[in-house]
Amino acid sequence: MNRIEGRVKVTGLATYAAEYPAEGVTYAYPVQSHIAKGRVKRVDSGPALEMPGVLAVLSCEDPPDLAEDADPELALFQRREVAYRGQLVAAVVADTYENARAAAAALRVDYDPDDHDVRLHPEHPGLYRPEVVNPNFPSDTGHGDVEEGLAAAATTVDVTYETPVLHNNPMEPHAALALWDAEGRLLVYDTAQGSSTSRDMIAKTLDLPPDRVRVVARHVGGGFGSKGTTRPQAVLAAIAAREVGRPVKIVLTRQQMFDVTGYRTPTIQRVRLGADAEGRLTALEHVAYEQSSTLVEFAEQTATPSRVMYGTPALRTAHRLVRLDVATPSWMRAPGECPGMYALESAMDELAYAAGLDPVELRVINDPETEPDSGLPFSSRNLVGCLREGAHRFGWEHRDPEPGIRREGEWLVGTGVAASTYPARRLPCKAVATVRDGDFLVQVAAADIGTGARTALTRIAAGALGVAPERVHVELGDSDLPDAPVAGGSMGTASWGSAVVRACEELRRDGKEGRADTREEIKGDARLARHAFGAQFAEVRVSSVTGEVRVPRLLGVFAAGHIVDAKLARSQFIGGMTMGLGMALMEETLTDEEFGGFLHRDLAQYHVPACADVPDVEAVWLDEQDGELNPMGSKGIGEIGIVGTAAAIGNAVHHATGRRIRELPITPAKILLPRF
Ligand code: MOS
Repeated sequence: MNRIEGRVKVTGLATYAAEYPAEGVTYAYPVQSHIAKGRVKRVDSGPALEMPGVLAVLSCEDPPDLAEDADPELALFQRREVAYRGQLVAAVVADTYENARAAAAALRVDYDPDDHDVRLHPEHPGLYRPEVVNPNFPSDTGHGDVEEGLAAAATTVDVTYETPVLHNNPMEPHAALALWDAEGRLLVYDTAQGSSTSRDMIAKTLDLPPDRVRVVARHVGGGFGSKGTTRPQAVLAAIAAREVGRPVKIVLTRQQMFDVTGYRTPTIQRVRLGADAEGRLTALEHVAYEQSSTLVEFAEQTATPSRVMYGTPALRTAHRLVRLDVATPSWMRAPGECPGMYALESAMDELAYAAGLDPVELRVINDPETEPDSGLPFSSRNLVGCLREGAHRFGWEHRDPEPGIRREGEWLVGTGVAASTYPARRLPCKAVATVRDGDFLVQVAAADIGTGARTALTRIAAGALGVAPERVHVELGDSDLPDAPVAGGSMGTASWGSAVVRACEELRRDGKEGRADTREEIKGDARLARHAFGAQFAEVRVSSVTGEVRVPRLLGVFAAGHIVDAKLARSQFIGGMTMGLGMALMEETLTDEEFGGFLHRDLAQYHVPACADVPDVEAVWLDEQDGELNPMGSKGIGEIGIVGTAAAIGNAVHHATGRRIRELPITPAKILLPRF
């Protein structure tokens, strides 16, 4: 299907958070810490308050009323302590955006700075084992004896990979418009990946009952995880509007987004693999080092994909975390699986070369019967099918494995492969289906963050009702609609779609209305390992003159259950793969060790792929019948496309050049510098 909201989007009629009109609206502009650690000594708001149009200054000099147990990243201006450079320490509210910005620049903030520590390294004395990693996995798992397995191996690899800080850069910046009505009910137009979840978080932060808050997010211009949790703009708009008694609008600049909307933690990952003479794994160990802030413990689940991928008698996965004077990391497309599979799938390629095996065959040989870590059966797997289908389509059989020998003029040419995986889960959700003017209205507080959720749910509802999609109208993006989980963890369609199907089935029985809540149904789900899988193939050309890496060809083959809509799915897959290409070659945020905070803070410095960077990216899928997932038989597809892409490209760079570059991104400097 074409996207239902396609026309209103391309004609500019789709209304995003910052675009809603409001009578008497005012504007808030944040003031950010110049120090990475220490205390705010004094905020002198006097001169700013004299400036044109200024209505209020918010700061720790007069802390706004917030819940005592508010998330420390959202507890704005409650404490004088500064946890990272760029943290919000004050805000100015004025009649125009420009007046607010000018007064914010004039606001005088004095600090007592302390020494800061912003550098992650594997010998950091502050490293510790977190209890759980995101969202709720044990930090460390294992079975068998890794040292024994390595000692018994015919071939071993012991390699360390590094991935940098990465930032989500949705096209729509984080924005909010907050309005309090005469009864003290708060309405927030927010850029959120979930209106129910954002409502709950804002209500908790302001210490309000959830029914006193409404969040509307009908169109969201991308999120990738950065809008999956409530961000400070929503809370700031709400407290500023309460302070001045007028609606308040706030739009973060791209630079501010780098500071306060989360990022992917940098990782250092050590992978040790052993294989016998046939290539069967004898041991797999994956240890990830990562960072969080002093405010909140966010431990990314980096090593968890190694619990799913390959059969081995000895398996150990572990996470070590250090709390630094940095902003709190958060979700970025496939947190855990994406950086973790970069390391595992690069190491598997290194093992294939060390053992003299084809990288596709090595993965096939080690495909497990049951989930290696848990022993649970898979609801469906089909990784081998993806590898075989991809190898066939890509022309893998003609590949000469010898690295660094194919040259076309200045260009070194190579190909690489890597596997993908991502969990296929669902969460409880409510939905209502009714008859309206002879057609059908389906209501659910789902979020369409550019994925096509509105369209997918229309198709799902039409199927369940047995009518044409044109007769179904889906309403989403409003917390006054039936409660729904966040658009995250690739669980949106599975969660919302389950409730929509049940509501439509009920409507068919009842004739007038169907109401669904899938909480009980999900409790009855069998204990199984549910994951999507995929195989990614990349061709690269590496310039021996400039060190530039080009990717003329990317192919992804996925096993993701029943595909709800081919057009929407292809767009999700190739979008994820393109983001993986950015991770492989371009994306990197450097931390400023001297002053704290980040050195890359805009799209001139933080490079993402443009159309010219991806001349031929294609995604196909195997048709899977999996009755153990949800009524649609679908697995999530928002994230698996990014998983494995960077490893496939890195492995292709090795095949082209004969060199392993184990620190992302693979920039021209890293390719060329060792020669000088
Ligand atoms: Mo996605 S990182 O689960 O929003």
